[in-house]
Amino acid sequence: MGLLELRDVHIAYGNVEAVKGIDLSVNDGEIVTLLGANGAGKTTTLRAISGLLRPQSGSIQFGDLKLEVMPAHRIVELGISHVPEGRKVFGTLTVEENLNLGAYKHRNDSARVRTERERVYALFPRLEERRIQLAGTLSGGEQQMLAIGRGLMAAPKVLLLDEPSLGLAPKLVQEIFRTICEINRQGVTILLVEQNARIALRVAERAYVLETGRIALSGKSCDLRRDPRVQQAYLGIKDAVGVS
Ligand SMILES: Nc1ncnc2c1ncn2[C@@H]1O[C@H](COP(=O)(O)OP(=O)(O)OP(=O)(O)O)[C@@H](O)[C@H]1O
Ligand SMILES: [Mg+2]
Repeated sequence: MGLLELRDVHIAYGNVEAVKGIDLSVNDGEIVTLLGANGAGKTTTLRAISGLLRPQSGSIQFGDLKLEVMPAHRIVELGISHVPEGRKVFGTLTVEENLNLGAYKHRNDSARVRTERERVYALFPRLEERRIQLAGTLSGGEQQMLAIGRGLMAAPKVLLLDEPSLGLAPKLVQEIFRTICEINRQGVTILLVEQNARIALRVAERAYVLETGRIALSGKSCDLRRDPRVQQAYLGIKDAVGVS
């Protein structure tokens, strides 16, 4: 059984079902990516895992714990950090203040907060250079680094990343993804939501493709990269014939 297991999860907004019974598992130490077009239900799925939304039915297990009945703050304490879509850093606080907010669960242990901050700065030296800068004045890429860094401050076992490449120049996307791989090497399991299927399939071991709330395809990234359906719909390869 995976570290994180979703079974027949249904999630609705009012009476509109956005996620229609998905099964998804993430094993300890893996990078797994969840791909899909706009509105497929990717963000909704992450929000249900981190307790920001309640599924209508189905189960979300983290080890032997049932996340679907837990409040969001408890899920963070258990070791799941969610880096939301659109970064959502606090613009009027400094870089360091934003990071400290991510360490809420260590709030009574300032030495621990410092250790976690040093770890984040080692991964993102640019954040250390800008630690007293207001987050609202950072570039888009730096804000993404800060959002990831803030998620790491809780020393998570699992990091949920929602579209870290959104709106970033290709060079910066490469840089962010190199760091995501490094975070994974340091032992953090990652569930990565992405629209950039090309890069996501490069870094993830396995992938799920979500189409209007259902898993349409899943498997090893290397197999999905060769799948003509993935090539046509997500990799922009016309006349796909199954080449990688
Ligand atoms: N707060 C909400 N109220 C009502 N419907 C919502 C709400 N949030 C999302 N939805 C709907 O649920 C569906 C899935 O949305 P979701 O944000 O999960 O998609 P997504 O795959 O993350 O898309 P994107 O790639 O654009 O971020 C969409 O049809 C969306 O309109
Ligand atoms: Mg989304």
